[in-house]
Amino acid sequence: MAYIEKSFNIPNNTGLSEEQISVHLGLYAGYVKNTNALLEKIQTWQSEWDAFTLAELQRRLGFEFDGMRLHEFYFSQLSEGSKALDENSKFGQLISKQYGSLDVYQADLKRIGSTRGIGWVVTYYDIESDSLLSTWVSDHELGHLAGLPIILVIDLWEHAFFIDYRPATKGDYIDTYIKSINWEIVANRL
Ligand SMILES: [Fe+2]
Repeated sequence: MAYIEKSFNIPNNTGLSEEQISVHLGLYAGYVKNTNALLEKIQTWQSEWDAFTLAELQRRLGFEFDGMRLHEFYFSQLSEGSKALDENSKFGQLISKQYGSLDVYQADLKRIGSTRGIGWVVTYYDIESDSLLSTWVSDHELGHLAGLPIILVIDLWEHAFFIDYRPATKGDYIDTYIKSINWEIVANRL
């Protein structure tokens, strides 16, 4: 079993430069490659019973796999260009109920994304409480909410914006990214 690198139809009016997107897509490809390489090595070492090596490899799987998957969420949110949120969708209704408006929700994402350090803003849907929960995930794998499906992500690693923005202006990067989100794709994840 091997994961295949996905392609995304990202228009050139996202506000992020072509170079920025292209460098970032290259990093995503690395996560796909490393996830496949790790899974293969884990398989190999299993038969050779090298417990120490296997444990170290196993610890890396969350980093590489989550790095691959989170980038797929991230780039697909830019696919096909920005599209407005359908307020009658389930996601639209939850935004209205919990935040009052999309603007308030977006401000909340920006607040979380302004956290120091590298990682992701992630919004999940919790079926038990029938609500959206947003949090900060460090690296790619630390802090995920167990069992909840991911509805939206924003990459806050510096590699996501370092060509176009400085660390001190990452708030502007968040604004730019949010403006380019295809909300139809986000809403369809629910
Ligand atoms: Fe990234």
